[in-house]
Amino acid sequence: KPRLYSGMQPSADSLQIGNYIGALMQWRDLQDSYDAFFSVVDLHALTQPDDPAERREKTRRTAAQYIAAGIEPSRSTLYVQSHVPAHSELAWILSTITGFGEAGRMTQFKDKSARYGADATNVGLFTYPVLMASDILLYQTDIVPVGEDQKQHIELTRDLAERFNSRYGTAFTVPMPVIQKGTARIYDLQNPTAKMSKSAESDAGVLWMLDEPTATAKKIMRAVTDSEGVVRFDRETKPGVSNLLVIYAALSGQQIASIENEYAGRGYGDFKKGLAEVVVSEFEPVRARALELLDDPAELDRVLAHNAGRAAEVADRTLADVYDKIGLLRRG
Ligand code: TYM
Repeated sequence: KPRLYSGMQPSADSLQIGNYIGALMQWRDLQDSYDAFFSVVDLHALTQPDDPAERREKTRRTAAQYIAAGIEPSRSTLYVQSHVPAHSELAWILSTITGFGEAGRMTQFKDKSARYGADATNVGLFTYPVLMASDILLYQTDIVPVGEDQKQHIELTRDLAERFNSRYGTAFTVPMPVIQKGTARIYDLQNPTAKMSKSAESDAGVLWMLDEPTATAKKIMRAVTDSEGVVRFDRETKPGVSNLLVIYAALSGQQIASIENEYAGRGYGDFKKGLAEVVVSEFEPVRARALELLDDPAELDRVLAHNAGRAAEVADRTLADVYDKIGLLRRG
């Protein structure tokens, strides 16, 4: 089977609906046709300040949400990034073939460092995409299903793989991004031209997977729309309604045109009520299952430890080959 790799940062207590629609739904659909690896990238999350106990909790919660959303840890290798030391080790090697300017052109780094200012920007944020490349390349990955915002990082990953292979001999598979057209970017409900994000300043426009159903419904009812009053897809002039339509279509499996028809001649209130039902009925079972899994952290830790062993076997093989090819002396 071809290989699939993807991951998410454990940077909040809950995943948000953009993570679910942009990534998790694809992961779940693809996991049977691929030899799939899914990581909770706790080392990446270290680029944001947090309390140590909180970090541990968020890592478990993220893993529990993968499983609750349908990632099967007996078939897919679901593990925690820091449990496999090869990720950090390969990141160092790759950093030595990454240009300073090349890393500086990453838009995510430019956005974040502009937001924090030079003094609050850490070097880890700068090398973040190199660690991400090592995640992907350690596993001889064929495809990486992600949302639109990760595309540039995967292009860098491909460049680094090709560069290493041509300088030192083929050690890496060159991966392809898989980005779902139409749902690759879900927007904030309060600010529908900004990407929905776990690290949004206000949580009023973020639909969390683990929100109480009443909170979800309330946020949807308050979502920003426009004054036209017609349920119609038009990204340019109706970003709010268009975003809600995309969410509705993704979760219900309906075409956008058929949803437009269903709500023709009805107001936004009805449409939002309908959407709230769709979202709540999708997330209710996921939320219940995630909370159940979190009731038994020892069992969850056991599953993660077992899968880390499986991941390390693959990763260590790639790393040993890289060490050899680049000319590090074997310990003997
Ligand atoms: P992260 O944790 O920000 O997001 C996880 C996944 O969710 C997607 N996503 C979205 N999709 C659509 N609309 C949105 N509003 C939205 N917000 C997030 C992201 O594109 C991503 O697929 N750097 C990565 C984590 C990572 C990784 C990797 C991914 C580390 N190593 C290796 C793939 C392969 C990140 O920060 O994702």
